[in-house]
Amino acid sequence: MARVIAVANQKGGSGKTTTTRSLAAALAERGRQVLMIDLDPQASLSEGCGLELHALATTTYHVLIGSARLPDILVPVEDRVMLAPANIHLSAAELQLVNMNRREDKLRNALKPLRDHYDYVLIDCPPSFGLLTVNALSAADSVLIPMTCDYYTLLGVGLLLQTVREIQQEVNPSLQVEGILATRFDSRTLHSREILQRARSELGGQFRIFETVVRESVRFKESPIVGQSILTYARTSDGARAYRSLAEEIENHASSS
Ligand SMILES: Nc1ncnc2c1ncn2[C@@H]1O[C@H](COP(=O)(O)OP(=O)(O)O)[C@@H](O)[C@H]1O
Ligand SMILES: [Mg+2]
Repeated sequence: MARVIAVANQKGGSGKTTTTRSLAAALAERGRQVLMIDLDPQASLSEGCGLELHALATTTYHVLIGSARLPDILVPVEDRVMLAPANIHLSAAELQLVNMNRREDKLRNALKPLRDHYDYVLIDCPPSFGLLTVNALSAADSVLIPMTCDYYTLLGVGLLLQTVREIQQEVNPSLQVEGILATRFDSRTLHSREILQRARSELGGQFRIFETVVRESVRFKESPIVGQSILTYARTSDGARAYRSLAEEIENHASSS
């Protein structure tokens, strides 16, 4: 049975897409079967996997509005990694869903027939709190929160954790917080170190802050241009090592809980 992890943070540029792509590759390297779901109309996950976005006939948009089944839209990305792609049409789903019954359950229901086929499902969320994110959090077992180490992002994480509590109360009581991941960390700046320290002291008692810290590296910007994850693009880089270590933390946690 797959563990479904929503990668969410309402702030753009916090490393959601990079984390989804790199963690999927790292889990696949460990022999796991992984499905990535692109739930962001900007579709940078799909684009970064080398897909021609305008040429996609069916996407997560069609799945959410009920005109396609999830298994029928999947494309292979690399060994053991599949992708449910998106493109800009997904932005219409948010409006169309508003008038539908059980609008927050669309993704959860769509995933049901696939849960036995994967070890992990990673959902790349858009940078907002709308119905797309609600669908992701409703379908997920847990939420992984990537966070750049700056003050306003830390404040935003507090807000997101509040939203997670609301989702737990109203739609998905079993939703857990997988953990908070420091990304784009710049060890040269005191600010980065202070914010990480604050995250650990203010949130660490209640939530897991991953030991793994992903540092700023230009490799992360280069790899999507050639349609690869950092794990194959720069196999031995610090960034690739970080996501391998994150995968290990997640798997160790899963086996101990
Ligand atoms: N550790 C990192 N070091 C350097 N650049 C990064 C890192 N993680 C992500 N990026 C870059 O930062 C930008 C935003 O990251 P992205 O994963 O797309 O965030 P989000 O999906 O939250 O908007 C992208 O250009 C991405 O390549
Ligand atoms: Mg993104």
